[in-house]
Amino acid sequence: MTSGYDEAYTRASKDPEAFWGEAAEGVHWFKRFSKVLDDSNPPFYRWFAGGEVNTAYNALDRHVENGRAEQPALIYDSPVTDTIRTYTYRELRDEVARFAGVLSKHGIAKGDRVVIYMPMIPEAAIAMLGVARLGAIHSVVFGGFAASELAVRIDDAKPKLIISASCGIETGRVVEYKPLLDGAIEMARHKPEHCIIYQRDMTNAALTPGRDLDWDEAMAAAAPHDCVPVAATDPLYILYTSGTTGEPKGVVRDNGGHLVALNWSMKNIYGVDPGEAWWSASDVGWVVGHSYIVYAPLIHGNTSILFEGKPVGTPDAGVFWRVIAQHKVAAMFTAPTAFRAIKREDPEGKLIGKHDLSAFRTLFLAGERSDPATLEWAEHHLKVPVIDHWWQTETGWAICANYAGLGFLPVKHGSPTKPAPGWDVRVLGEDQKPVGPGDIGALVCKLPLPPGSLPTLWNADERYKASYLTDYPGYYQTGDAGYIDEDGYVYVMTRTDDVINVAGHRLSTGAMEEVLAELSDVAECAVIGVADDLKGQVPLGFLVLNAGVSRDHADIVREAVSLVREKIGPVAAFKTATVIERLPKTRSGKILRGTMNKIADGLDYKAPATIDDPEILTEIEAALKEIGYPRD
Ligand code: COA
Ligand code: AMP
Repeated sequence: MTSGYDEAYTRASKDPEAFWGEAAEGVHWFKRFSKVLDDSNPPFYRWFAGGEVNTAYNALDRHVENGRAEQPALIYDSPVTDTIRTYTYRELRDEVARFAGVLSKHGIAKGDRVVIYMPMIPEAAIAMLGVARLGAIHSVVFGGFAASELAVRIDDAKPKLIISASCGIETGRVVEYKPLLDGAIEMARHKPEHCIIYQRDMTNAALTPGRDLDWDEAMAAAAPHDCVPVAATDPLYILYTSGTTGEPKGVVRDNGGHLVALNWSMKNIYGVDPGEAWWSASDVGWVVGHSYIVYAPLIHGNTSILFEGKPVGTPDAGVFWRVIAQHKVAAMFTAPTAFRAIKREDPEGKLIGKHDLSAFRTLFLAGERSDPATLEWAEHHLKVPVIDHWWQTETGWAICANYAGLGFLPVKHGSPTKPAPGWDVRVLGEDQKPVGPGDIGALVCKLPLPPGSLPTLWNADERYKASYLTDYPGYYQTGDAGYIDEDGYVYVMTRTDDVINVAGHRLSTGAMEEVLAELSDVAECAVIGVADDLKGQVPLGFLVLNAGVSRDHADIVREAVSLVREKIGPVAAFKTATVIERLPKTRSGKILRGTMNKIADGLDYKAPATIDDPEILTEIEAALKEIGYPRD
């Protein structure tokens, strides 16, 4: 018997233009597209060429005009400030239109870039949608990044304007954003003309006269601005993500393909109907926040929860159940690490029973590998399907998933199930040839990618080709390795590059090595991602000192830890490093990070045949033992 999934997958493969052309009926077009897929300039594919849309119009205005004006669009639930604030679609549309008026008054128009550096407050979503309303391009930078990371993004995106807030709130502390923003602007070569600062009650940021504007004052003086139609192929946003080096990649998202794919995903993957409450517990600084806190739920007419808090400690490990019950959430999406944190504090799931979760139907996990133990814990205690799905900043929505709206396929723990319609996933060996079922290789997707996935990198077509399209011609290289079993289920096992995943946050060990190399005592260094019970992985540094350095090693390690925090940010969670005599290398000088990783994780390992001096591995074992690795 063919399932709803089989039928949809086959249709999307056989006739992608018919499949996505039909899905495009679900969104509003100012001008209909002339071609569903423009493949005239490979490898640069364009969806819905000739069409004109506005993403904010689709997310707000059309719902106000079509009967959802009084439905809650956004519920801000902030246990850290003890606030719950609801915006109906009409209210949110009006705020966004007024904020677009502020932006327009200060010179922002179609195609201009605006950087957004904000905590999890509704004004972050209003800022994103306000930029989209004008056809300008936003680039949100996660609040846990340091000033220098923000500066790198400012220099690449060249924003005319930056939107920020006076502070964010982390468990037990207030993080002042304005000094970080000022520091970043000072460091950056490119200077924005203006900054708009939202002053929160906890801190009042000092404004720079002439450059900085107060959000509330600017809003009070502004007139609403209409939606500006843009080409479906015009960029909606740039989102920087970690690659192999310290230079982040500016992933570009278009307007038309993004609208169509996200709208399709809400019903078919997540199984929610317009009007239902949906919660993605992430941050607007990550792709999950872009796609599933702000855009998809609003485009689809859902009520989206914007949560400012953590799974534990705000105030306790029952907060997720309180939010689900209070807002009658039908489905939620978060990273497995959040559930590991809850499970650690409330292993018996006692806090779950205190809340009425009768409206809750499905839990979706992504952002990192879902370990079967966490998945089983969630299934057992929540008694709803728990769905692992796999995607990336680049793809914008799921490459592999299970399908609440098409009919669930049987769940296999450890697998994010099967490729979504439009995604042709293959496993290729180093010789670029397909490997057999169950054999590990590079996970790649045949071009063209479906709507919603990245058309290119910002101002970097060549880097786009070199990063993703060169090693396996005709395919998009995901950077993940894994296998496909005999039933067609995909398993995502590890990254093939220097990217690690810390609490669902994607970070580059290469970028951390670049920072450590700046320390004057350090001759050489390496950073690996070691297994961690809570965060999945955490970074661990190895430092080789210059000859003659006699300072206390503990001081040098402390310096290393604080420099990474200062240069990359607290989100890097770089807390451990060790000083060693020398790094294990191949005869050609390549650092054997993989072998070091196995030693640190307590896995079986064999010295590679190409190793320069196998003795060094014994030294590494001893150094790791001293700092408690492998963990018990
Ligand atoms: N602004 C400033 N600092 C921030 C920040 C922000 N927006 N977000 C995180 N940080 C800081 C934290 O305070 C912490 O600092 P510390 O070293 O002083 O404690 C550091 O960055 C690491 O943050 P985080 O990874 O969130 O660790 P945590 O220990 O505070 O919380 C979890 C751990 C598992 C509870 C949390 O990471 C979590 O809920 N993750 C899952 C959900 C998620 O957001 N996934 C993202 C992709 S879907
Ligand atoms: P990001 O771009 O921050 O969303 O991170 C994407 C990366 O996270 C992927 O390339 C994977 O390495 C990892 N990832 C995301 N979801 C999953 C999943 N369900 N299973 C395994 N790894 C995942």
